[in-house]
Amino acid sequence: MKKILSLNHGLRGEIKIPGDKSISHRSIMISGLGNTPVEIENFLAGADCLSTISCMEKMGVDVKNLDGKIFVKGNGLFGLHEPENILDAGNSGTTLRLLLGLTAPQNFLVTFTGDSSLRKRPMARVIKPLSEMGASIFGRNDNKNLPIAVLKPAQKFRGITYEMPVASAQVKSAIIFAGLYADSPTMIIEPYPSRNHTEKMLRAFGAKIETAGNVIKIFPAENFVAPKKIFVPGDISSAAYWIVLASILENSDVTIKNIGVNETRTGIIDVLKNMGAQIEILNERESGGEIFADLRVVSAKLRGVEFGGEIIPRLIDEIPALAVAAAFAEGETIIHDVGELRVKETDRLAAIVDEFNKISHGSFSATDDTLIIRGGAEKFFAECKTYADHRMAMSLSIFGAAAKGVEIDDADCVKISYPDFFEELTN
Ligand code: S3P
Repeated sequence: MKKILSLNHGLRGEIKIPGDKSISHRSIMISGLGNTPVEIENFLAGADCLSTISCMEKMGVDVKNLDGKIFVKGNGLFGLHEPENILDAGNSGTTLRLLLGLTAPQNFLVTFTGDSSLRKRPMARVIKPLSEMGASIFGRNDNKNLPIAVLKPAQKFRGITYEMPVASAQVKSAIIFAGLYADSPTMIIEPYPSRNHTEKMLRAFGAKIETAGNVIKIFPAENFVAPKKIFVPGDISSAAYWIVLASILENSDVTIKNIGVNETRTGIIDVLKNMGAQIEILNERESGGEIFADLRVVSAKLRGVEFGGEIIPRLIDEIPALAVAAAFAEGETIIHDVGELRVKETDRLAAIVDEFNKISHGSFSATDDTLIIRGGAEKFFAECKTYADHRMAMSLSIFGAAAKGVEIDDADCVKISYPDFFEELTN
């Protein structure tokens, strides 16, 4: 339980954000397929990424933490070992889905489990394409829920052409990993482009991956040449809380340093700017194919907007934070095509409607896949539930901080992606 007080001042100065969660996961997995040590700078030591480390270690990858610096050394592209025990992905969909793709073509048996949230999340979406490639994977019931057993495949994987029904970087990445081990190229067609960190990082290790719009072609790989260092930029999904808070609080002028601004992730900036936010992208740099920059955010008067479709995968994890911004905007905000929120760490559409309405009565409503927010209504102090979902906890916290305060039942879950969130908020 944690009580967050109303902030009676704007955000000012500089904020440093922990490393990007998606890139941190991939840095461990992909470095674990090389055979020379890789230093990972600004790695996110959140619980989800620690789950990835623990799974990779159990398959023979060496991970060392020397004075906060992470070093990873694998045994080559074909050097993963059969784990002696079950791999536990904890709360992390990225760990599980990507590792299903990576382990399915290996010549050994792997079993996976996870926490009570992950055990409810649908895995058929990954198991279906992997099975078409030759995987032998068994899950519980029609959704192929955890626990899941990945058996040694009967033969070498086949390259396939797969049209994905939903834009999901986790599903796409699982197929990409499996495609590295196939006997011919694999082609993936996405409905809309999702985050492309796997493609970028694999290329930095020498893999041949071609992309054209929504189509990704993966060529079988023989070996990887690992770079000496990977720099993980700050996570735009974590920066989102401060971008929104600085925009809605009066008298803010804040610079958020070293944030990843890969175009598959910057939907939140585009939408907030359309709402009238004042966000400047400064000092753009590049490392390992990923662009990062400093973001300067100044208080602004926001107005409601309507959006959906192609932009959704570019901001899917930021919708709870955007919903907070919309509650302070003038007019209505309508967000279409957000049904995927129902299968995140919790049903985030239901959670937003049930919990955010405790702070701003009747402002939030949803259909199957649309979220509607009436801006500008009166806000109250409320006791809210996070459903053990890190993004709900942080969004509720900034909502309360910008309104009359809030009490959340579970503050601990922020350690999944942003362990120091509350230190930053109360600083
Ligand atoms: C992620 C992809 C997204 C996102 C998740 C992280 C990734 O999930 O919501 O937090 O690192 O690939 P989906 O692939 O289910 O859209």
